Amino acid sequence: MQTISENVLLYFFEFNNKLYKLLMRLVNRIYNKMFVRLNAEERSILQTLKKRPQAPYDFFSRYEKILDNSIGWQKINFENNSVMELGCGPHLGFGPLAIYLGARNFLAVDPTVNKNIFESKKLIDNYFKMSFKDFNGIFRREISFTEFMKQLKKKTIFYSNTEDSLDEFNSKIDIQLSNSCLEHVENLNNLLADLKKLISLDGRYIHAVDFGSHIKSNNPFNDIYSSDPESFRVKYGNKINLIPPSKMIKIFSESGFNKAKLVSYYYHNENFNSNIDEYWKENLEKGDFFLKVGIIAGKIK
Ligand SMILES: C[S@@+](CC[C@H](N)C(=O)[O-])C[C@H]1O[C@@H](n2cnc3c(N)ncnc32)[C@H](O)[C@@H]1O
Repeated sequence: MQTISENVLLYFFEFNNKLYKLLMRLVNRIYNKMFVRLNAEERSILQTLKKRPQAPYDFFSRYEKILDNSIGWQKINFENNSVMELGCGPHLGFGPLAIYLGARNFLAVDPTVNKNIFESKKLIDNYFKMSFKDFNGIFRREISFTEFMKQLKKKTIFYSNTEDSLDEFNSKIDIQLSNSCLEHVENLNNLLADLKKLISLDGRYIHAVDFGSHIKSNNPFNDIYSSDPESFRVKYGNKINLIPPSKMIKIFSESGFNKAKLVSYYYHNENFNSNIDEYWKENLEKGDFFLKVGIIAGKIK
């Protein structure tokens, strides 16, 4: 049987132990904040990592499934094809997947891309290796991680905009992709004109567009529909172009993508607690209201 003094001693020992662990955690956190500096790409990619390294495959396979169920989409084959992703982000978006599946090259078009990512051990170990494990589990190709990284490095071509790729890749891109990028593009007509020049005669494309406000809210359209675009921009800046879904598909068609189809992924009208401004009543078509994510896809011929 323990005496009272032994119990008191034990209690203090456990208390000190807990206090020590808490202090060490605090010291570690402060040390990491002060001394473990991440560059912009590392920070951004590791943030993406929080969204799961399997995200690119998840998005891609989900979009193809939705397209297949709605318009009878034939799966894209990356083998030996030239792939371009617009707004892929610093982690190269669908690029690693395309390269793993045998793409001839991958054009990473985004003002934030930087080939330094291939020099970062942190990113190689924590991002590219995790993506590779995911692809290997799914597709089971006979390729080592070292070889995969070699291919990714060799076949990825970095551009900060489409214009710079026009001379070299005119009519040479077989597959064009984007994920939550087109709604951010200021001059969409110009960009789609470039994409049309770049795509090959057998080309195919998938663009997922997030039509919501990109502002934290119970409903992604509260802040959009409550005023006209001008007032929205004054309040929130030019982060999104506010082009409605039906208008966007029209711009595709006018730019020469006349087989483009717009397929709804999902609508979000729950918790909408605002009035709809006259501007939107006049400019939105029936199927536009509350369309949160739409997929624009098709082929050239
Ligand atoms: C919301 S992020 C999406 C990033 C990535 N696709 C993803 O799903 O995580 C939008 C990206 O589009 C890029 N972007 C914006 N305008 C662009 C343009 N005109 N051409 C190419 N990229 C653009 C931004 O730099 C940014 O990386």
